[in-house]
Amino acid sequence: MNKDTLLVHVGRDPRQSQGMVNTPVYRTSTVLNPDVETYEAPRDEDYQRITYGRHGTPTTRALEEAVARLEGGYHAVALPSGLAAIAAAISAFVKPGGHILVADSVYAPTRVFCQRQLKAKGAEVEYYDPVIGGGIAALIKPNTKAVFCESPGSLTFEVQDIPAIAAAAHARGVPVLADNTWGTPYFFRSFERGVDVSIHSATKYISGHSDVMMGLIVTNEQHWRTVRRTVADFGYSVSPDDCYLALRGLRTIGVRLKQHMASALGVARWLRSRPEARHVLYPALTSHPGNTIWRRDFSGAAGLFSFILNRASERQAAAFVNSLTLFGIGSSWGGYESLATVAHPEKLRTATQWKPGGPTIRLHIGLEDPADLMADLEQGFNKLGMA
Ligand SMILES: Cc1ncc(COP(=O)(O)O)c(C=O)c1O
Repeated sequence: MNKDTLLVHVGRDPRQSQGMVNTPVYRTSTVLNPDVETYEAPRDEDYQRITYGRHGTPTTRALEEAVARLEGGYHAVALPSGLAAIAAAISAFVKPGGHILVADSVYAPTRVFCQRQLKAKGAEVEYYDPVIGGGIAALIKPNTKAVFCESPGSLTFEVQDIPAIAAAAHARGVPVLADNTWGTPYFFRSFERGVDVSIHSATKYISGHSDVMMGLIVTNEQHWRTVRRTVADFGYSVSPDDCYLALRGLRTIGVRLKQHMASALGVARWLRSRPEARHVLYPALTSHPGNTIWRRDFSGAAGLFSFILNRASERQAAAFVNSLTLFGIGSSWGGYESLATVAHPEKLRTATQWKPGGPTIRLHIGLEDPADLMADLEQGFNKLGMA
């Protein structure tokens, strides 16, 4: 089945729900058993059987199955947020005395989790240049328990050579964990590229309507139990109503993403022609340093990218964002609406430096008409006399 057909059919079985086209919202804590023997039967080590509300209901399983199949993984588990998914996935592998290699371009709260939580538990955290590729081999130590990737970085958009990183890590028996929120299960088939554990903020494109907080971890068969048990041990549980909303969002992820990409590409190309933009950091542009790897490994690009303002101060950058009328100012992305923020990657880096020659503006291109978005950006440039 091609992925657009799969999106329509996966995670629902009307024969199981009186012909209803969608998997219903099953709300429960207790799941009743016919007898003591069934209740006391050995636990399903794969956590697929429905046994207790905390471990998920048929609504949860429908979403998890849909995402796992779309991305080509073995199973998936839903968590209360993308950050919870990151924290649980890392915790499944990195214990006291262990060492983790983390891309220097990683989402800031991932870095905070590593600095505050992992280090306090006696683990070693080392950051690496995101474009290191197979060079990661030199950083792998006997106690390395995981390599963490995020491709592209969601502020600075370096595209990682994940197949090369995975080959080096696997040669030493080290699993590769990747935040695939930007790539999505639709545009980046993690497991075909060597990822072992793929992590999503489902808050973004999977839900797609800025009304759900959720994370998902998808794994290959080898690492499923390690990850699923960790999630169970921490007691994470997700509301079936939110799973229903996320699955409803997922049904249209294909058409939404294609539109986000077409519009983002239009805006990014336009920005490249503008003197106010020094660089445009969108992997789908042929001028982007990661374009060759992006073309090889991804089947599309999300609507999130950054650009560098030419000859502007931080104060002017803030004034520019404040002047926009169609772009909201706020966290997250992946919904239907456009957003703009001034990013500060230079404050986060430790293994590399971020000196692009001007302030970094991050845009999420939503589903508005791109002509209106370009007109809004243009009036912002003109108002501030930035040319
Ligand atoms: C790349 C990336 N990963 C993870 C997260 C965290 O997701 P959540 O906000 O659902 O916890 C975000 C949120 O902005 C993100 O941008």
